[in-house]
Amino acid sequence: MKLRLKPAYIIACAIGLVATSALALDLASVAHDRKANMKTMGGAMKAINEQLKSATPDLGIIKAQAAKLDAGAHLMADQFPEGSGLKVDPKSEALDTIWSDKAKFKQISDDYVKAASNLNIVAQAGNASALPNAYHDVGQACKACHTQFKKRDEH
Ligand code: HEC
Repeated sequence: MKLRLKPAYIIACAIGLVATSALALDLASVAHDRKANMKTMGGAMKAINEQLKSATPDLGIIKAQAAKLDAGAHLMADQFPEGSGLKVDPKSEALDTIWSDKAKFKQISDDYVKAASNLNIVAQAGNASALPNAYHDVGQACKACHTQFKKRDEH
């Protein structure tokens, strides 16, 4: 059987293919940026922890790193589009439940945004006595999400 395709159809398919691969590329770069943001946040947590453990904590460092965590928390809202997990990044540790249980993921994300924002407010106010608790709450919020939505719970 001979298949006759109309040129218009062929062109439409070609455009479709290009659009699909552009989207996959987009999602892959989102996954890449997401990991970079997570790493930055990990570094910020470590730096704050070092200061809190120090006999002479440097409030300037704490303020700068808390601001980074707050900014990172807000970036995350756009860093988990559907299909940006294993489909586009074979090394991704983002579990599919992020998209099958969107309500729970949103709730846990929102909890984290609140905790990071609170830590930033406490830090910028120089409220040293409230810092350890605020820091602890952020750590718990990272962990809550990783336990449920990240493949390996090592952070
Ligand atoms: C709402 C969920 C959520 C929150 C909140 C969250 N993470 Fe993550 N994190 C993830 C997911 C999902 C991954 C896996 C991403 C991937 O591999 O595509 C991840 C990956 C990571 C990684 C590994 C990055 C890499 O290079 O592969 C680090 C480090 C990390 N997170 C640190 C943190 C820290 C520190 C916090 C809190 C300050 C935090 N995360 C908050 C969901 C979250």
